[in-house]
Amino acid sequence: GQIEKGGYPHFMLKEIFEQPECLTNCMRGRINVDHDRVTLSALIDYRSRLLSAKRIIIVACGTSWHAGLIGKQLIESFCRIPVEVEYASEFRYGNPVVGSGDVVVAISQSGETADTLAAVELAKAKGAFIYGVCNAIGSSIPRATDTGTYIHVGPEIGVASTKAFTGQVTVLTMFALALANAKGTVGHDEYVKTVRGLAEIPAMMKEVLKVNDKIADMARTFTYARNFLYLGRGYSYPVALEGALKLKEISYIHAEGYPAAEMKHGPIALIDSDMPVVVIATHNGMYEKVRSNIQEIKARQGRVIALVSKGDTTVSKIADAVIELPDTMDCLEPLVATIPLQLLAYYVAVCKGKNVDQPRNLAKSVTVE
Ligand code: G6P
Repeated sequence: GQIEKGGYPHFMLKEIFEQPECLTNCMRGRINVDHDRVTLSALIDYRSRLLSAKRIIIVACGTSWHAGLIGKQLIESFCRIPVEVEYASEFRYGNPVVGSGDVVVAISQSGETADTLAAVELAKAKGAFIYGVCNAIGSSIPRATDTGTYIHVGPEIGVASTKAFTGQVTVLTMFALALANAKGTVGHDEYVKTVRGLAEIPAMMKEVLKVNDKIADMARTFTYARNFLYLGRGYSYPVALEGALKLKEISYIHAEGYPAAEMKHGPIALIDSDMPVVVIATHNGMYEKVRSNIQEIKARQGRVIALVSKGDTTVSKIADAVIELPDTMDCLEPLVATIPLQLLAYYVAVCKGKNVDQPRNLAKSVTVE
């Protein structure tokens, strides 16, 4: 009923707006800004086992798999350990090369996804050490792991995952930072800067949530679309995948996420005036290249919705709609860039009169194959 929704029309919107508070809970007792450090009990209890990992394999499904793709970039860049990200359903039947040198990270909001649980059991039987990143306390996956870190974002009711995704990315960021610090693969200044940056994310998210009304308006003009394309590079590539998945799940518009530079190898053929393209074009290392992708889209009459850094004037001139984001470190940007994409999917679905909390054919937790 209305009471559980806290005055919001849907659980999904409530859960989107809860994210600053959820991430504060997720970091509580783990990030200490006074001492500029991250402490995860899993890394204290199993320090030598985690430090000696030769390779990390992340297994997950759906939105949790997208969080895993961000986790790969974080762990590889901070810890210099090779990371593979596998769909749990493919991993479990793929005769995977996995053994005692590996740490398997299982990401699951519900902790009950059948494929992810089976992947964990298989990897455990082959001698890997299993670290879980889950939300539902005491669920099957955390019980099957050797150790883990709960994301502590509270129950997620909307079928389309929102706060669990940002909670997973937050835990993976803390894990990468704590492991890198223990291994000595991150410089002190960068470590401190990133810890402080992460601690500021909840406040930054509150800023970003102010785009709510603008996106509600904007969504109306895009309900006609039958296809959407989402583009991003680096840390923004998984954000593009997740933005596309949100739209597809609840509005039933076909949407694809792509690494921006791959556009020329296929998706560009689809671009015409009926094709909205959401582009994450903030001021990071790839800005100039992504900007030229936007020019290519505009040359084909595509309609561009751009996520830009606050104060951007160049992309703003050529895009059809612009959403500004506050500046943050590249590796923390997924946590802020995801929010407008969640809101866009939400409002497009609402404008189309769809059941956003319980989309057709989808289940909150998939306990069967
Ligand atoms: C279902 C849900 C998704 C979720 C996926 C994985 O498809 O609808 O929102 O991302 O399962 O679920 P998990 O609980 O393992 O994260």
